[in-house]
Parts: sequence; structure tokens; C-alpha cells
Amino acid sequence: MDFMEFKDEAAELLNLNLDGYKLKRVERRTKSLMRRHDIDDFDECLEKLERDSEFRAAYLNHFTINTSEFYRNPDSFEYLEEKILPELLEEHGSINIWSAPCSNGSEPYTLAIILNEMGVKKRNYSILASDIDPEILEKAAEGIYPEKALKNVPDELIDKYFNQISDERDSHQLKKKIRNEVEFKKMDLINKGFQNDWHLILSRNFFIYLTKDLKQELTQKFVDVLNPGCYLFLGNTEFIFNPNKFNLEKVQMSFYQKN
Ligand SMILES: C[S@@+](CC[C@H](N)C(=O)[O-])C[C@H]1O[C@@H](n2cnc3c(N)ncnc32)[C@H](O)[C@@H]1O
Repeated sequence: MDFMEFKDEAAELLNLNLDGYKLKRVERRTKSLMRRHDIDDFDECLEKLERDSEFRAAYLNHFTINTSEFYRNPDSFEYLEEKILPELLEEHGSINIWSAPCSNGSEPYTLAIILNEMGVKKRNYSILASDIDPEILEKAAEGIYPEKALKNVPDELIDKYFNQISDERDSHQLKKKIRNEVEFKKMDLINKGFQNDWHLILSRNFFIYLTKDLKQELTQKFVDVLNPGCYLFLGNTEFIFNPNKFNLEKVQMSFYQKN
């Protein structure tokens, strides 16, 4: 079987719409996992996906790049803290934030830390964090991070919001107060309806994996559930071509405001 055939069968088996992802990348990731597991061809790979649930989880895991860190692109989070969040809170009183996808939770937890540092009362915000990968969501809820995920967090905030749990690399656990501020939910962003009433949606370092068509479709879906005047926050290497088409205005490198 060739890759295109494999991709269709694997998509059905995994209940995942692989057509929305850049296929060259899916093929590369599939082949590298096959090499790692000594699998010779796509038939064998599909067979293993069918019978071996651990391999199925490994495939999903390998394919869904979970890299994330606290304050990823610090300049954007500074702009968020100084400009976007104060404006949204003043305008709306209380705000709903969605991190989609959230990976290991460092992104939504960064938001919770920022809101705490701003002195905003918990009743004035909610943070939902979703991802397709159940394993990474379990880790996110635990809130344990290696030193390198905290490289952009100032020392005084590490002392204030994390407990050192060992001298090893996975050494810091977020305090329960912050962990309790984020609701994690398993959600496939492709082919699913979105809940509405959002003031800020972070969809960062996800569009880069998608085809142009799917990116456009998801941009429209995010815009549809954003309240007027509210923001979509993308990763630093991502941008929306022709934002006017989506009723969006680019206000800073990574922030788009709905008109
Ligand atoms: C690189 S991480 C981005 C995490 C975070 N937003 C950041 O910028 O640091 C990409 C995430 O997309 C998730 N993902 C991939 N396909 C998805 C889908 N169809 N629905 C929801 N999440 C998906 C992966 O599991 C992974 O955790």
C-alpha cells in the first residue's frame, strides 16, 4: 500500500481527519516512527495500529508535536498583559479565554499566572484549555514541568507559583491554586462545532501543521465564536492572510481583533 492509501485507512482507524494536515509532514512523521519501531512498510504499520493500542497512542503522540513552554514568545505575552487583557477586562468586566490547543498546559497556566499577577479576581475570568491528545492533557493537569519549560519565567514567579518537588529535571509543580484555575478538556478542533462567547482565543503553533484550506476554515470558526472587539492570539510564526476577509484586524504581530 502507498502512503495515500495508508493515510485514509489510518485516519479511519484513529478517528482523525488527516487530510487537514500538511501531508508531506504526516508522511515524514509516520516514516520516522516506523523506523523507530522497525516497521518495514505501510501495511505493517497499519496492522500494528489496528492491533496494538500502545502503538496507536505512540503514533498519535509522535504525530502531534507537543512542544510548549511558559511565556512562549515573551514579547507577545507582555503585550497581552499590558494591552489586551486590561482592555478586555475594562470593556467586558469578566472574560472567557480558550487555549486551543493547549498541549502540556504551559500556555493556559501562563495566562492564569499573568491574571494573578495583575490582581484580577478569579470570578472575573475563566480559562478553558483543550487538546486532542489525552496523554498530554493528563500531564497538563498534573502541572509538573522540567526546568527548560520555565526558562522564560522570572525567578520570583517560579518561587511564588511553583513548588520544587525534587532536584531532578522534572522538578517543579505548579501550586494547586493555579492548577485549579484551568479546565482541561479533550477536543479535536477539526470537524467539530465550537462553543461560543469567547473574549480571547489562543490558537498558537497549530496552524503551522495544517493545510491552507483547513487553516482558513478554522480561522472562520474561531471568528464566529469570538465576541465583537475580542481577540485571536496566534503563534509568532503564524499569520492570517487577508484578515479583512474574516472580519479581523491585525493589531500587533500575533493579535487579531474581531470588528
Ligand atoms: C505545538 S503544540 C502547541 C501548544 C501551545 N499552543 C503552544 O503554542 O505552545 C500543538 C498541539 O496541537 C495538538 N493537536 C494536533 N492536532 C489537533 C487537533 N486536530 N485538535 C486539537 N489539538 C490538536 C497537539 O496534540 C499538540 O499538543
